[in-house]
Amino acid sequence: MSFSHFLADDQQTQPQVSQLITLAKQIKANPEQYTNALAGKSIVMLFEKPSLRTHISFDIGIQKLGGHALYIGQQNGQLGERERVVDVAKNLACWSDAIVARVFEHQVLEELAEHAGIPVINALCNLYHPCQALADYLTVAEHFDDLSQVNFAYVGDGNNVSNSLMLSAAVLGINFTLASPMGYSGEAHILAQAQKIAEQSGANITLVNDINDLGQQDVIYTDTWVSMGDEAKGAKVLEKFAPFQVNHDLMQACQAKFVMHCQPAHLGHEITQELFDSDYSLAQQQAENRMWAQNAVLVSLFGN
Ligand code: NVA
Repeated sequence: MSFSHFLADDQQTQPQVSQLITLAKQIKANPEQYTNALAGKSIVMLFEKPSLRTHISFDIGIQKLGGHALYIGQQNGQLGERERVVDVAKNLACWSDAIVARVFEHQVLEELAEHAGIPVINALCNLYHPCQALADYLTVAEHFDDLSQVNFAYVGDGNNVSNSLMLSAAVLGINFTLASPMGYSGEAHILAQAQKIAEQSGANITLVNDINDLGQQDVIYTDTWVSMGDEAKGAKVLEKFAPFQVNHDLMQACQAKFVMHCQPAHLGHEITQELFDSDYSLAQQQAENRMWAQNAVLVSLFGN
């Protein structure tokens, strides 16, 4: 499978994403077979925003593959402020073999990829969170043999996570419903792109603005109502989003088997604590799978 960067969910084909999921399962089952996959490779991790799971799962994941991870956090400010992104990219390429970056603007990732000449992996931006979506569908694939039979709903704010989940669902042929308050369904161009991809894969991509229209779902997913960098939304969101809280009543109404959350969870807001801590929840499996999914991406990028 050959791709040069991992920036957005619509840049890989269905066979490529399926192979990534298969490879992630193999690495998870037999990590000892991959301990030298990144031997001699150094990977820089640039983070403009806070992170727990992404930072640590990349760091430890790279170590498990025999590589070296170097973290640069928020002390250097936003990329492009102290020096041009193009110069950051060219400098990093002098010493390192790949860049993992969490940025405010997707455009910065595109610039890094254009000028660094080494693989760039999106560790979350304003538009996408592709490592999360890959880990999430790996998690779903561990519970359902045939992804084309799964009804998957994302309930809440249309954001980077829902964008990535929707695009990846379209690629993989998973039926995907986004339920959000009117005006919070995410970027129209991403919905259009997902619908276009779904014409090939056979996925149904549906948008609803009334939670009562959700219908039967196998999996219900939610994420924060206020993403990092999105704080200007203010307190008004609580009222607008309240009917979209994911709780036991919603699970029962949809006959859903599992609930998912990328974390950090805001208990009592987008999801109740009772549900998050219940046997319905796949949140910790998702968190663990971040590392295996990302390691599959890294192994693929380096061609092993
Ligand atoms: N949508 C959230 C995801 C956090 C992992 C954010 O961007 O803050």
